[in-house]
Amino acid sequence: MYKINDNYQKLPGSYLFSTIGKKVNAYSEANPDKQIIRLGIGDVTQPIAPAIIEAMHKAVDEMGKAETFHGYAPDLGYEFLRSAIVKNDYQARGCDIAMDEIFVSDGAKSDSGNIQEIFAQDNRIAVCDPVYPVYVDSNVMAGRTGTYNPKTEMWSDVIYMPCTMENGFVPEFPKETPDIIYLCLPNNPTGTTITKSQLQTWVDYANKVGAVIIYDAAYEAYISEDDVAHSIYECEGAKTCAIELKSFSKNAGFTGVRLGYTVVPKELKCGDVSLNAMWARRHGTKFNGAPYIVQRAGEAVYSEAGKAQLKEQVAYYMKNAKAIKEGLKEAGYTVFGGVNAPYIWLKTPEKMTSWEFFDYLLENANVVGTPGSGFGPSGEGYFRLTAFGSYENTLAALERIKKL
Ligand code: MLT
Repeated sequence: MYKINDNYQKLPGSYLFSTIGKKVNAYSEANPDKQIIRLGIGDVTQPIAPAIIEAMHKAVDEMGKAETFHGYAPDLGYEFLRSAIVKNDYQARGCDIAMDEIFVSDGAKSDSGNIQEIFAQDNRIAVCDPVYPVYVDSNVMAGRTGTYNPKTEMWSDVIYMPCTMENGFVPEFPKETPDIIYLCLPNNPTGTTITKSQLQTWVDYANKVGAVIIYDAAYEAYISEDDVAHSIYECEGAKTCAIELKSFSKNAGFTGVRLGYTVVPKELKCGDVSLNAMWARRHGTKFNGAPYIVQRAGEAVYSEAGKAQLKEQVAYYMKNAKAIKEGLKEAGYTVFGGVNAPYIWLKTPEKMTSWEFFDYLLENANVVGTPGSGFGPSGEGYFRLTAFGSYENTLAALERIKKL
């Protein structure tokens, strides 16, 4: 008789955004006349930029001719894309990252869930609280998190680093020593970030205690302040302690196209064992590459026209972020984020719980957001709105919220 992976049975509820989706669909079915504005999941709404569409069309045509057809992609990704990444995302920022340290994938969500596979089961993970749920859930599935306490909503073997209004949403070094530290900066969900010198202290700490940092830089394109690092490799010593995850979803609108990459430096070693070699082995065995058409689309992200068009797209979303932040402040809310990230993090009014405010907003303003407690216990009493809606919908949502 076969046995299942019991760890899955430990997972409480369903994936946060699936739960929200189900709730919203139920409301919508019961109230078909209501125009719902969705500012919940961080999914983009602007179409793919013209320079990228052009590159995709060209690649589609190539696939239709025997002489330019492409089958399986190379293990690590096509050189044309990896060299564009190295040049634009690293060399341009003074980071010495080589092509064979870049692993092209179908997105940062998969990579952030899969990366834990190369680590032993008895590693202690440390996460910010609140946190992108994939980091914790994927470690639960791997049996690395101990037991769940429904009262505290915490796992016995996870080290939580609370990020709240009181500490400016900046994680502090934990009392217990972690083996794997997840950092997402600029942060999802709080929309806040830390300075490059603060990040340097994390790199120094990880090197000192022998921990590895899994650095999720999915929102890097939204950084507007000069003292914020665009890559962890801008910090000295990061190549011996950090893996960086990057996404094309938020900077280029690829949530439905799917493309990302992971950087595993060759200097990152556990004793004599190279993590780069381990990830190469895993990638080669379990992944057959992002599609050629999509990798050509990724290359176009770095073309002069692509860069200019995406700069406008990011500015469009950040105009939304500014409107949400200022509009909510005017309406008397306490708000954070929205300066270096497309997320606004607000205190729920009148001591409502995050889910109470979710229901209140859905029912009275027909606006969907994300309850802070869905990201972890320290998210209780907070709520996330995304700037990824259309400008018109963003303004309409604000008008409705102001009238409450
Ligand atoms: C979010 O809303 O937190 C993100 O869109 C989820 C994701 O990128 O997977």
